[in-house]
Amino acid sequence: PSSVRVFSGMQPTSDSLHLGNYLGALAQWGPLQDDHEAVFSVVDLHAVTLPMDPAVLRERTRRTAAQYIAGGVDPERSTLFVQSHVPEHSELAWLLNCLTGFGEASRMTQFKDKTAKQEAGAASVGLFTYPMLMAADILLYDTALVPVGDDQVQHVELTRDLAQRFNHRFGDTLVVPEYRVNSSTARIMDLQDPTSKMSKSAATDKGVIWLLEDAKRSAKKIRSAVTDNDGVIAHDREAKPGVTNLLDIHSAATGESIDQLLERFEGQGYGALKVSTAEAVDALLAPAREKADELLADPAELDRVLARGAERAREMAAPTLARVREAMGF
Ligand code: ADP
Ligand code: NA
Repeated sequence: PSSVRVFSGMQPTSDSLHLGNYLGALAQWGPLQDDHEAVFSVVDLHAVTLPMDPAVLRERTRRTAAQYIAGGVDPERSTLFVQSHVPEHSELAWLLNCLTGFGEASRMTQFKDKTAKQEAGAASVGLFTYPMLMAADILLYDTALVPVGDDQVQHVELTRDLAQRFNHRFGDTLVVPEYRVNSSTARIMDLQDPTSKMSKSAATDKGVIWLLEDAKRSAKKIRSAVTDNDGVIAHDREAKPGVTNLLDIHSAATGESIDQLLERFEGQGYGALKVSTAEAVDALLAPAREKADELLADPAELDRVLARGAERAREMAAPTLARVREAMGF
């Protein structure tokens, strides 16, 4: 592997990852390890920006880690750890908070989106400072490259600004990361509401495929996916979002191109496309589901893996934080 370091993470905010998390993020992580030095974190400190029951948090943290490994993260080759096990994240986040303008943080669209539905003032300050914690996650590991979904680009831009600002004020200390938006992976949409992205926080999970759910349930959800009434299988995100989502999922699951799929299903109905998509999704997810179940059957071993990962992460994070402290005058 090259020495180009990549960092990525997900919040332990659901019992299972969904198909969008899997195709949009996790499935890219395994291959990344072949030519990068990879650091993957279960970012549990981010998860408490919204109210979270302690027992639920503990369980979801383990489940998320198990799904990382089941989805292809190799804890021998990569550094896999739980964010809160490495206290350097919180300290660097504080220091970065002090370098961030209030107005600058107020422009983060994710905060605006997440608070749009709430009563004004009900959100935690942690939700507001979330992007600076994310910047700390990235900068602590001297990350050179961040693979991101398009929803996180603004936060990585802020991370770059903060690193540059730090270096300008205190001398060259932090690596300014590049980022890569994964445009080859389609955005997976909710099966019942194909104009919204598949999300953990959907009001109902009828349109969400969970990695850890029973295969029959997933197949049923795919067979019940919302389509349209014209009966023509075509790829058109605006006019035919439901059918297009099924084609995208099918293509991502099997590696067949959209054109190959259009040719294969020419003259057939939506039923045939749905059955085939359900089979493709099951073939994709079944091995990861089984592996995750195995890992979760031995939580003590999983905890040992995560403890080793935290040790390795601290070996990288501590020297970075020491440089930062020295540069700032602590
Ligand atoms: P959610 O929106 O369900 O809470 P997260 O925001 O925790 O998911 O996202 C975790 C990772 O999964 C991110 O890299 C994000 O870009 C990716 N991701 C989330 N939802 C989708 C989706 N519907 N399609 C593709 N990628 C997704
Ligand atoms: Na999200």
